[in-house]
Amino acid sequence: MNPTNFSEVFQKIAELVERNPEDIFFRICELLKQEVYHYDWVGFYILDQEKNELVLGPFAGKPTPHTNIAIGKGICGQVAESGKTMLVQDVTKVENYISCGLDVQSEIVVPVLKNDKFVAELDIDSHSPAPFTPDDSKFLTQICDLLADRF
Ligand code: SME
Repeated sequence: MNPTNFSEVFQKIAELVERNPEDIFFRICELLKQEVYHYDWVGFYILDQEKNELVLGPFAGKPTPHTNIAIGKGICGQVAESGKTMLVQDVTKVENYISCGLDVQSEIVVPVLKNDKFVAELDIDSHSPAPFTPDDSKFLTQICDLLADRF
């Protein structure tokens, strides 16, 4: 397994955004899952402002039963509340966590902020222990920034 060349993958995503296919969010999920070894489940949760909850959008990986998440619940709900990235290297160490399967060891959730307001988030589960570095955060934040005006 080679280390990920994040700038190369970002370039591919920027090209996809440029081409703007109809299923762009799904394609981004697929591309991230394919290109980054430690990304095993990649999905978007979108804020439903009326119900004030997160709703699962496009994703790549195993289907999850957690299609609706309350604000403040789990890692996803906490990111919706704070608007800040959460990087969890060992999911067994956090209390406010919603499990999506025993094979998940770590998770990173990055908010999509539109005009400084939380609108959605990019959620990534990994089967690897402690795989994330600040480069993951930087890379995923760049992607979320690129997509913000689509929400
Ligand atoms: N683990 C998340 C729930 C969503 S799944 O990872 C797809 C959480 O704690 O919010």
